[in-house]
Amino acid sequence: MSRIRRWARHLRLMVLKVLMEFSPVPLLGRLVVWLAEALVGPYKDRRILARVSDKPYISPRAQIKCRRLYLGRGCFIDDGVTIYAHSDGGDVRLGDRVHLYRGTIVEVGAGGSVHIGADTHVQAGCNLKGFLGSVTIGRNVQIAPACGFSPYEHNFEDRSAAIKLQGIRSAGDIVLEDDVWLGLGVAVLEGVRIGKGAVIGAGAVVTKDIPAYAIAVGVPARVIRVRGEVSSNLA
Ligand SMILES: CC(C)(COP(=O)(O)OP(=O)(O)OC[C@H]1O[C@@H](n2cnc3c(N)ncnc32)[C@H](O)[C@@H]1OP(=O)(O)O)[C@@H](O)C(=O)NCCC(=O)NCCS
Repeated sequence: MSRIRRWARHLRLMVLKVLMEFSPVPLLGRLVVWLAEALVGPYKDRRILARVSDKPYISPRAQIKCRRLYLGRGCFIDDGVTIYAHSDGGDVRLGDRVHLYRGTIVEVGAGGSVHIGADTHVQAGCNLKGFLGSVTIGRNVQIAPACGFSPYEHNFEDRSAAIKLQGIRSAGDIVLEDDVWLGLGVAVLEGVRIGKGAVIGAGAVVTKDIPAYAIAVGVPARVIRVRGEVSSNLA
């Protein structure tokens, strides 16, 4: 790289860093983030804005209403992300360098919370609902687009009343341990724990606990083998 290009790159990083330092300032923050965005490319090119300073990058096109939102350093909140707490909702905690990509919705209501560990990335169009129970996701977890997490269900036994009037119940919290990978469109239901390093295949519906390092696929998700083991008699 020529000296001029190195110098230009360094200057650009310095400008981005200064702009992002001002990003939390009310009103002015929106303007400086808009300017910083103009200096980088679209979508994932903007991740640099979460790295240049210790301030998170929050797109001006994200919608956030959550009094108890705790953001770690270097978080990336993309366009169209929603983080919404109902008046009785619990907290939302995002560890350092958590990325939430566009269209993802985090919503918390009574008795619910959502906690996501450091370096976890949640791709586009995911839905994390903390109602009656918590959704706790560990560190270094990879969540592909269109995954859903629901620690509650609707009551529906009474045929004489609309389901939406029958309230909700929960069989327990959802926990994903560190280094889990969920493929496209996985649904994780109430009371489920997915063990460390497990892989869940695209389109699975996880209704029961999955052990550490297992690979599970299907509806309902069943373990087909264990990572690093050549053959398995689990199928
Ligand atoms: C599960 C997965 C990781 C592959 O794991 P694997 O251990 O290498 O599995 P294999 O490809 O050897 O398949 C083993 C069996 O499971 C089946 N299978 C694989 N993935 C499946 C899935 N998602 N749903 C249902 N069955 C699946 C295969 O058809 C095969 O069945 P067979 O033995 O009857 O032929 C992969 O198929 C997958 O779903 N990846 C997710 C891709 C994705 O979402 N990418 C987005 C990137 S963020």
